[in-house]
Amino acid sequence: MSDRFGIPSPKSAKKPPKKGLFDFLYTDIAIDLGTANTLIYSRGEGIVLNEPSIVALNQQDTPVATGHEARLMHEKTHRKIRTVRPLRDGVIADFEVAEQMIRGMIKKVKMKWYAQTRQMVICVPSGITEVERRAVRDSAEHAGAKEVHLVDEPMAAAIGIGLDVHEPVGNMIVDIGGGTTEIAVIALSGIVYAQSVRLGGDELNDDIINYFRRNHNLLIGERTAEKIKCEIGSAAPLDEELEMITKGRDLVNGVPRTRHITSKDAREAMAESVNTIVESITKSLEQTPPELSADILDRGIMLTGGGALLKNLDKLIMETTDLPVHIAEDPLTAVVRGTGAILENLEYYRPVIDS
Ligand SMILES: Nc1ncnc2c1ncn2[C@@H]1O[C@H](COP(=O)(O)OP(=O)(O)O)[C@@H](O)[C@H]1O
Ligand SMILES: [Mg+2]
Repeated sequence: MSDRFGIPSPKSAKKPPKKGLFDFLYTDIAIDLGTANTLIYSRGEGIVLNEPSIVALNQQDTPVATGHEARLMHEKTHRKIRTVRPLRDGVIADFEVAEQMIRGMIKKVKMKWYAQTRQMVICVPSGITEVERRAVRDSAEHAGAKEVHLVDEPMAAAIGIGLDVHEPVGNMIVDIGGGTTEIAVIALSGIVYAQSVRLGGDELNDDIINYFRRNHNLLIGERTAEKIKCEIGSAAPLDEELEMITKGRDLVNGVPRTRHITSKDAREAMAESVNTIVESITKSLEQTPPELSADILDRGIMLTGGGALLKNLDKLIMETTDLPVHIAEDPLTAVVRGTGAILENLEYYRPVIDS
């Protein structure tokens, strides 16, 4: 059954996928290949892996750890081991390491060693180039996938939060990840407008590091900056300002120091980048066709990705745009839940995948 746009109706999508006699020999998986976190969904099982997109390599460039284990080594490595985030800036900075990471992650979830990966749906940032798309597809095929489908991150996020993307109604999705912020307007199974800004949570961490170095002569690491951002960071003043104790190296005398810091410091540190994100949203609204703008006025802006958790970011966007802003339920898993839904209903979602 399909409607006049050639899109199968949700009714036919609800039918359970046909079970084959030899299905136990195969696994079908969906991957959210994020710049900060990689998540894997397995057909019929749900989310089976959620780990940082990091690989630790030895001197021969052989991976010695992937995900959580590699993250623990991050910034604490020695000469013989280095950690790499292959997707750091929203682009695939290192194809080879990215492929090793995908392999390592898939290996972690393959309970049945004999099972072959049949179908793989991979979500990629909408800003990546054709060459990078090709590389992701090749990596998935090298990792053994028989059929590979790519889907754009905002589309997967929209599906993950339960929007009916086939509807002739406009929805604005803002996904704030580690390396990029993806802003998109979706209607009729397609992306009407998309902007990928190479600015996300990583940049906010860098801002915090630079701020404390410049204003407090204190050198802190990336992990400490991340902790400050998540615990006391905010985009707009908080009803009750927060404080915490942090550790770093004093740049004047070079010794380790403990410092008392406030949410005001953290907000000031990130203000410029946060404003750039908000400005990109207002610019995208200006580019949206009027009929779709009217839909967004009714439905509001949907925030997904880990950056959506920055305190009072929704409030700041709401005040700037005068539109309703909603934070997705569990924003860190919205994309993989959408990618998983596509895997479970490939026919229904055929119009949104790039096969
Ligand atoms: N509570 C929080 N407050 C602010 N930022 C957060 C919070 N939790 C996670 N993040 C940030 O979200 C980003 C990761 O989001 P994610 O959607 O997984 O990114 P990606 O899709 O690029 O892998 C990181 O930069 C992380 O610091
Ligand atoms: Mg993401």
